[in-house]
Amino acid sequence: MNGYKIMNKRIYLCLAHMSGNEQKYIDEAFESNWVVPLGPNVDGFEADLHHFMLKDHPQLEHKQVVALSSGTAAIHLALLGCGVGPGDEVCVQSFTFCASCNPVRYVGGVPILIDSEPDTWNMDPTLLEQAIVERKSVTGRYPKAIIVVALYGMPYNIEAIMDIANRYGIPVIEDAAEGLGSRFEGQALGTFGAYGVLSFNGNKMITTSGGGALICPDMDSKTRTLFYATQARDNYPYYEHTHIGYNYRLSNICAGIGRGQMTILNEHIAHHQRLAKMYEKALDGISGLSYHTNPDSRYESNYWLSCITLDEQVHVVGEEEVTIAPQPIAPNRNIEALRIYMDKAGIETRPLWKPMHLQPIYADAPAYLNGVSEHLFRIGLCLPSGPMVTDEDFEYIIKTLKQAIIQ
Ligand SMILES: Cc1ncc(COP(=O)(O)O)c(C=O)c1O
Repeated sequence: MNGYKIMNKRIYLCLAHMSGNEQKYIDEAFESNWVVPLGPNVDGFEADLHHFMLKDHPQLEHKQVVALSSGTAAIHLALLGCGVGPGDEVCVQSFTFCASCNPVRYVGGVPILIDSEPDTWNMDPTLLEQAIVERKSVTGRYPKAIIVVALYGMPYNIEAIMDIANRYGIPVIEDAAEGLGSRFEGQALGTFGAYGVLSFNGNKMITTSGGGALICPDMDSKTRTLFYATQARDNYPYYEHTHIGYNYRLSNICAGIGRGQMTILNEHIAHHQRLAKMYEKALDGISGLSYHTNPDSRYESNYWLSCITLDEQVHVVGEEEVTIAPQPIAPNRNIEALRIYMDKAGIETRPLWKPMHLQPIYADAPAYLNGVSEHLFRIGLCLPSGPMVTDEDFEYIIKTLKQAIIQ
């Protein structure tokens, strides 16, 4: 079973994978001395992203892309774009990575955490509407924005979310950091709401080593986003500042990596989606194990990470030795045993995100809950899914997983 460990090979969740075209753009930047956070690669990368996201939807071509230093920066700037300030409430999907939520605090806002629906694992529209109505009765004001998250690439129920958001006049920020290339009814995630967020961190669908982008509704909002992303410098020959700004622009070198990565994005998406199909088939029939898939034909996940859930009654080798983490709410014993078993075999797996309403830092945030994300956190595990996972790796992952589960 430890063949991979002996060969010194480890299979990771989602490793960066280069196309071979990246170096050309980096060299061009060096040769032309564009070693700064602006330049031809930044412009070219933004144009490539715009084309990828919007080419099939000419009615949305007014949308604009701004390349930034991270997805977190993009969420922060989206909140500023929505006018969120101190004391303003923002409805945020609770089941997510902390970066979806932390920027609400950066601007002095109050996150209102919303639980998930069982089929997409993303924001539950019914709870969202309940929260909007109730917050109005508590504070006299509607929340200032809504942040939905495409968890593991799975599209949110954007139809229902947009319907609610439009009825109450609240802008939607789509956190598609994990959802580059995912679609709902053929339209790219990140292009439905007021703002769309992408991440190019090292573990995402493509990487710029670190980076992100904000899809803005129009040229005015792009100009405002650029202003805040470059230290909010007013239009004078000397340095004059009437606003607090940030240093959030993407470097021309990193954007060069991004341009190279764009040449291989479609292949990456196809690879993740193919692996998902293979997982679904190979894991079918294991009693108590479920594979997370598109709920219906409107949803087209990029399957950034492939995820499974394991019923508590399913037993896993080594379960008795597992010492559960000291927190009252933690992944079940069999999930931790499976993670350890896979790890020993040289395979990285990871529990699902721990929901924000269970995080000590957000203990005081108002939360609208239905138990779904907490349950998923207890029973879920992410499996390797990136472009570096070969067919041989896949066979090894399945073989190891089946050895671990006592059937
Ligand atoms: C859901 C989600 N939102 C936001 C981010 C933040 O992106 P970045 O790491 O580029 O800041 C990440 C990933 O890191 C993420 O998974």
